[in-house]
Amino acid sequence: MGRVAQCPSTMKILFAYIIVTVLLVLICTEPNQVEAQVEPANPPRYEVKALREIAAELGKKDMNFSENPCNNKSSWFTPPPLHGSRAVNNSTVTCNCSFTNGECHIDGMTLAMNRLSGPIPSYLGNITTLKYLSIENNLFSGTIPPEFGRLVNLENLTLNANYLTGKFPSSLANLSNLKELRISSNNFTGKMPDIFRSWKQLEKLEIQASGFEGPIPSSLALLHNLVELRISDLPGEGSKFPNLKNMNNMYRLMLGGCNISGPIPDYVWEFSRLQILDLSFNNLEGSVSDSESLTKTQYMYLTKNSLTGRIPDWMSIRDSRYQIDLSYNNFSESLQSPSCQENLNLFQSFAGGKDLGSDNCLKNFPCSKDWYSVNINCGGGATTINGVDYEADEDFGGRAKYVPLKETWETSSTGLFWDTTPTSMDFIAQNVSVLRTNNSELYTRARLSPLSLTYYFRCLANGNYTVTLHFAEIVIRDNRSYQSLGRRIFDVYVQEKLELKDFNIKNEAKGVDKAVIRKFKTVVRNKTLTIRFHWAGKGTTAIPRRGTYGPLISAISVDSDIKPPVLSGRNKNMKFIVGAVVSVLCLIFIILGILRWKGYFRCKPSREQVLRGLDLQTGFFTFKQMKAATNNFDAANKIGEGGFGAVYKGVLLDGTIIAVKKLSSKSRQGDREFLNELGMISGLQHLNVVRLYGCCVEGTQLLLVYEFMENNSLAHALFSPTESQLKLDWPTRQKICLGIAKGLTFLHEESSLKIVHRDIKTTNVLLDSDLNAKISDFGLAKFDEEENTHISTRIAGTIGYMAPEYALWGYLTYKADVYSFGIVALEIVAGKNNTKYRPEEDYVCLQDWALVLQQKGNLMELVDLRLGTEFNEEEAIRMAKVALLCTNSSPALRPTMSEVVNMLEGRTLVPELILDPSIFADESRFGAVKDQFNRMQSRSSKTTTITQSSDSTSTVWLGSSSTLVEHQ
Ligand SMILES: *[C@@H]1O[C@H](CO)[C@@H](O)[C@H](O)[C@H]1NC(C)=O
Ligand SMILES: *[C@@H]1O[C@H](CO)[C@@H](O)[C@H](O)[C@H]1NC(C)=O
Ligand SMILES: *[C@@H]1O[C@H](CO)[C@@H](O)[C@H](O)[C@H]1NC(C)=O
Ligand SMILES: *[C@@H]1O[C@H](CO)[C@@H](O)[C@H](O)[C@H]1NC(C)=O
Repeated sequence: MGRVAQCPSTMKILFAYIIVTVLLVLICTEPNQVEAQVEPANPPRYEVKALREIAAELGKKDMNFSENPCNNKSSWFTPPPLHGSRAVNNSTVTCNCSFTNGECHIDGMTLAMNRLSGPIPSYLGNITTLKYLSIENNLFSGTIPPEFGRLVNLENLTLNANYLTGKFPSSLANLSNLKELRISSNNFTGKMPDIFRSWKQLEKLEIQASGFEGPIPSSLALLHNLVELRISDLPGEGSKFPNLKNMNNMYRLMLGGCNISGPIPDYVWEFSRLQILDLSFNNLEGSVSDSESLTKTQYMYLTKNSLTGRIPDWMSIRDSRYQIDLSYNNFSESLQSPSCQENLNLFQSFAGGKDLGSDNCLKNFPCSKDWYSVNINCGGGATTINGVDYEADEDFGGRAKYVPLKETWETSSTGLFWDTTPTSMDFIAQNVSVLRTNNSELYTRARLSPLSLTYYFRCLANGNYTVTLHFAEIVIRDNRSYQSLGRRIFDVYVQEKLELKDFNIKNEAKGVDKAVIRKFKTVVRNKTLTIRFHWAGKGTTAIPRRGTYGPLISAISVDSDIKPPVLSGRNKNMKFIVGAVVSVLCLIFIILGILRWKGYFRCKPSREQVLRGLDLQTGFFTFKQMKAATNNFDAANKIGEGGFGAVYKGVLLDGTIIAVKKLSSKSRQGDREFLNELGMISGLQHLNVVRLYGCCVEGTQLLLVYEFMENNSLAHALFSPTESQLKLDWPTRQKICLGIAKGLTFLHEESSLKIVHRDIKTTNVLLDSDLNAKISDFGLAKFDEEENTHISTRIAGTIGYMAPEYALWGYLTYKADVYSFGIVALEIVAGKNNTKYRPEEDYVCLQDWALVLQQKGNLMELVDLRLGTEFNEEEAIRMAKVALLCTNSSPALRPTMSEVVNMLEGRTLVPELILDPSIFADESRFGAVKDQFNRMQSRSSKTTTITQSSDSTSTVWLGSSSTLVEHQ
């Protein structure tokens, strides 16, 4: 198989074109298609009437009221233009037309993210068939109408982020089918109602800053089906830990700021499925269980309680996937106290507000002098404004991270953004439009926090101080779209005194991208000063994106009211001497740096060097560690030979299983830029992306340390001939395919570092113990480029997966990955290897065969025979169609990965395949694209050795060159 997989030839495409046209005509007369065209019945008049009332409220003046809301084409589904009189968005109506008597009823309704105000319309209670209702993020006020008690079919009710007041009407007890209830950020009054005994089906309950007061009612104990419970910011009377004993499926548990006292019950440590545990800001006492049962719990927040005793060993040996925050507690110090780790926040964790001893952590710098002024550009780089030097504060931050790197100040960051995929840039916001404000350097980037962020100043001269906080809203927008409906509300404490309550930057600044500055007087007594930013559950959480909330701080200045003592002459001399010494030291460091760069020193940069110099977010491993972990790279531990080198399984001292990839490269030694890039990559976290823990440089060798994947690769699962191969049933295949799509969406569109993978193929998709797909080797294709010397210096990819424009022209965009993804998706449906499968001589590959099957309207034939009849036909056909769409030879006609996700999840329809007379397949048109090729080539400085002769380019096209691509 020496040929580049570019299946359809010109003739075939033309032929296919004709067939498709004919088929399209035929399809329209197919009986099931005709059925789908039948208009759904009108819902009963009272339902339409209720809709009309709401439409009037929404200001939808252009509505055609005679329209059937259950008809797909109805304008009920198309939101009115955003520049209309009111921002209206995300309002949808869904119907259930499967009633046996042929009736249609409205069963779902979303009015989320509008500017709707006034009381909730009581006629909503007339649509008794409703199962889903969300009015999240509006301005509704007043009480919940008692008529809601008639919605007995209601399963999901979301009232978050409104101004609802009063108590719950007692009729709500009728909603016995409720599975999900969210009432966060409202103005309800009185004690939390003891109504839960009526809602035994509840699976998810969210009550953050609802306005209700404590205690948590005892009937909560009856909700045995709960998988997610979030209660926070409950003022008033406290309580002991509520009884959650029988909730064995608990997956995410938050009881924060609820004034809970007493010990944490033992059964909490036994919840075997618990993923997130947040018990922060209570008065919990007693010790933390020594049992290691919470092995799955990835995020644990015990912040700001009165916990005592020793910190259990299991907490300090977990790898960087796990984040534990124990800051602000009363633990006792001992010899075994854990060492300073980036995923274990121990800021003021010990009795008396102490941190760790200096030998445990790179910190507790002795104070060189008393400081009188500190200025920080939060989230941004160093800058000077009006003669004031602002220090840089560019650490990535973290979900449980204490950064003690400076003499004068440190940060402690606690909390994760819920309901969103974590990224490495979660804790730094970047402006989205040009700032109109003076001193914009201070405001272009700002530090964010999902729960609590402390700036801790030390070595300050005691006395009176002025604290200046600079804010600007750079995330929520001010335009006429729904993005302006966000409300960011948070609190600020100075020396633990609440100085700003329910602070809303946008309101205070009267707009976005505008600076607002607040000054406070305070007193420094023990040379220390604490400024803490806190999110107390209020405001919106989903605008412009889910997970947008919490404090945002742009810059901080701390200034003593006393002038620092003026430098005497002697001090001036001192200054000169210090200056001279520093220059000499710098020189020495530069020389040492060069020597190191030249490879005179081995591996093992100090931790400090790593943190300061290379900005690696996670570990830097020593070669010794790697040797120990893999038993000196014992052949028995070798688990694979990837394109970039051998891969070994290893075990770190703490028991973490890792995969070590041994790359060897002459040209990359000491390449700082490359290491920096690796550092960035290692910060990326997504369920469908293999986690890079870190790396190790040793001489000419570079080792990469990854999380270990139990189930090998997708290629292994799909194609390995052995009997022992995994059984991939249809739901698993659908999950894997969707997982790859989501991982790529993350790399292309969502992560802080946008990455084109270049080499998506089944061997680069790994499977974890739950058969989640994880994309591996991203960012590395670049690494390979210097190695391929014969024809191209740029192309790294694999036969059978490479997009034609990339294989031929070296023209690389995100769409090249989309193409490769399409091939992988085909292989998942068919269970066959694209390049190895040829049903007949006529076909080049699986993709070729699939195209023909599609044109014959016979895509079902493609589905892997091993699945038997046990698969979801609709999903299989959909996946095949998406795959073919992705492998369109024109990049512009391929969808983006986020569109692919929507199609695979059935949220959007898969457009019919557009067959294009491919410019790449048609050699007669070669001349026409040659100019374009030359232009591209001159643009790309790195593309140095592709020859311009059309002869050799055709050679590439025929694919006789094996050096063009990397082999599997
Ligand atoms: C809602 O139902 C009540 C009682 O059946 C009825 O009196 C009222 O007119 C209905 N409202 C609407 C808007 O249909
Ligand atoms: C609301 O609509 C916007 C744009 O149409 C979309 O980005 C956002 O995800 C939607 N929000 C929800 C909750 O559906
Ligand atoms: C309704 O809630 C249930 C239980 O939490 C959830 O599984 C389901 O996806 C929700 N439905 C919708 C339409 O959000
Ligand atoms: C809701 O309560 C907050 C205080 O918790 C108050 O500032 C706000 O004005 C109230 N809003 C309404 C509409 O009552």
